[in-house]
Amino acid sequence: MKKTIALVFMMVCAAPVAALAAGPAKPLDRANIDMTDTASLQRGAEYFFQYCIGCHSIQFKRYNRMGNDLGLSDDQLRERFIHTRDQSGDQTGVGELIKIAMKPDDAEEWFGQPAPDLSLTARLRGTDWIYTTLRSFYLDDSRPMGVNNAIFEAMSMPHVLWELQGWQANVGEEGHIKLEKVAEGKLTTEEYNEVVRDITNFLAYVADPVKVERHELGKWVLLFLAFFTFVAYLLKKEYWRDVH
Ligand code: HEC
Repeated sequence: MKKTIALVFMMVCAAPVAALAAGPAKPLDRANIDMTDTASLQRGAEYFFQYCIGCHSIQFKRYNRMGNDLGLSDDQLRERFIHTRDQSGDQTGVGELIKIAMKPDDAEEWFGQPAPDLSLTARLRGTDWIYTTLRSFYLDDSRPMGVNNAIFEAMSMPHVLWELQGWQANVGEEGHIKLEKVAEGKLTTEEYNEVVRDITNFLAYVADPVKVERHELGKWVLLFLAFFTFVAYLLKKEYWRDVH
């Protein structure tokens, strides 16, 4: 038992060190996300279900929980977010977990790696890391898919947002990475950054839904305090009436 505890302790301690050792070749940019911005979370969810769900599940979450938290009705969930079917061929129900249609084995065969579940990625990697990684794909002939990533060296994920961002190339010298746009996408750099910020915000919510809830709760606490202050004020007035 002691050994197991020591082992777990070592693994927990070693994880951040390992992450640091494989540190990025490019410094991380600040994601500056705002989890209280529901419109941003909704847009992030839309992008996620359009561009990412084909490969990545977020299977600790249910559709209707996401709907509740982000202010989306069951009908909106069915129309815009649920793309999978259950075994009988019907659309997956709103109470189900958010899984993918693709089998993990297929992903491994196609990309050499299974696409990981992204439920906790914002906690494990950090939001700045996600934000910067999704903006750091560049053309690289030496890679099987012709694309590499300045933050995640030899990443086996294709640049799924290339249509929006366009393409970057590495123009840095002597092993240094310096990215430059070589083909325009549909969006300007600023617009693309916003899209990635929304996706990052959504993944931050997925990893810590309680934060969104806490915010909601905060409103009620403040309202209660305001009400209570008002009652106290009335009481004070009542008590002091006879004194004056
Ligand atoms: C075509 C399949 C595919 C699609 C679509 C896809 N990914 Fe990936 N993604 C992968 C694979 C495969 C990996 C594993 C990469 C590796 O380990 O080399 C990955 C890894 C990641 C990681 C790193 C996870 C970690 O901690 O190692 C993040 C973050 C990520 N993807 C985000 C996204 C987002 C956001 C989208 C949508 C905009 C997306 N992916 C769309 C295949 C995909």
